[in-house]
Amino acid sequence: MSLTDAYNRQIRDLRISLTDRCNFRCFYCLPHGEPAWAKKETLLSFEEIEFVADIFVSLGIEKIRLTGGEPLIRRDVPVLVEKLSRLKPRLRDIALTTNGYDLSRHADALKAAGLDRVTISLDSLRAGRFAEITGSDSLDRVLNAIEAARESSFDPVKLNAVIVRGRNDDEIADFARFAREHALSVRFIEYMPLDSGHGWDRSLVVSGREIREAIEMEFPLELASATRGSETAWKYRFADGAPGEIGIIAPVTEIFCGQCSRIRLTADGQIRTCLFSATEHDLRGIVRSGAGRREIVEFIEAAVLKKEPRHYINDPSFTQPERTMSFIGG
Ligand code: GTP
Ligand code: 5AD
Ligand code: SF4
Repeated sequence: MSLTDAYNRQIRDLRISLTDRCNFRCFYCLPHGEPAWAKKETLLSFEEIEFVADIFVSLGIEKIRLTGGEPLIRRDVPVLVEKLSRLKPRLRDIALTTNGYDLSRHADALKAAGLDRVTISLDSLRAGRFAEITGSDSLDRVLNAIEAARESSFDPVKLNAVIVRGRNDDEIADFARFAREHALSVRFIEYMPLDSGHGWDRSLVVSGREIREAIEMEFPLELASATRGSETAWKYRFADGAPGEIGIIAPVTEIFCGQCSRIRLTADGQIRTCLFSATEHDLRGIVRSGAGRREIVEFIEAAVLKKEPRHYINDPSFTQPERTMSFIGG
């Protein structure tokens, strides 16, 4: 079985947000102060996630990425990973996106439970700036988490850096150097209008092209692959053969929706067929109503058929989604 949308795109990747809560307050994501968190009873339990993940995998989902908010805020994430691992080998890949704050503690258990990959968010290599961007004075902790991930044999370890003009665009080459020195994959991401403060403005977007040029001033790059398939990032290696990898994710200036293979499940069990969806599909409601597998499959197939052709960030009529990245899941 496979999930195909109305534009003939095969849906193979499911991103599951485990919680909308976060212990950071990245300015491009969560507002300062206390947002209205989802009520605990609306969050899918691990058993519910396992149940729906099994159905999604039977429909052709091959990759699951656990996100948030900060997923490691949920207790016992390794237990969930262990449950999801039972869906292998049909499920080929289980990944986690985390801010790294609590990763050192859990890295070994996550690896043992069957987690294949981790991506850690890191938007500055300077302690003071890291604290300004995230609202948390935790650079050292996150750097230790990167080490811990490697020691637990995660390979590759990917870092996500959202580049925002005037905030951290002067660190692009430093990040590339960091990738080389530590043999990491650093992925530079264009700033998208998903911030709860609605502070996004086009002038703040540093384009993928600018990012590449800034890196190449110091470290010439070579495209690692001429095609990208449904992936978000163009991947580059260092022309001088140094270790490490550069990824450039440019959803604003080089829209990649045409090949999108992703759908999302929010922490409160809503299917979102696009980061920028204006509507959601209440999978939690169906599951909790006691629906059978057949009915749930039909619900998912119908939702996928409504997947948007693309995002409209670049259209004059664009309106920002109400839910921020912390709810939707990076
Ligand atoms: P891999 O499985 O490692 O290739 O992960 P990925 O390419 O899905 O990357 P990751 O999950 O680390 O996502 C990186 C960033 O890309 C996210 O934090 C978002 O900023 C952006 N992104 C991911 N998926 C989408 C998408 O469907 N649309 C848009 N516009 N941006 C996305
Ligand atoms: N623009 C681009 N990426 C974002 N993320 C969160 N908010 C934004 C935004 N406004 C991504 C970051 C982070 C992940 C969880 O979500 O890459 O690492
Ligand atoms: Fe938390 Fe991630 Fe949002 Fe930062 S981007 S506030 S780490 S959910």
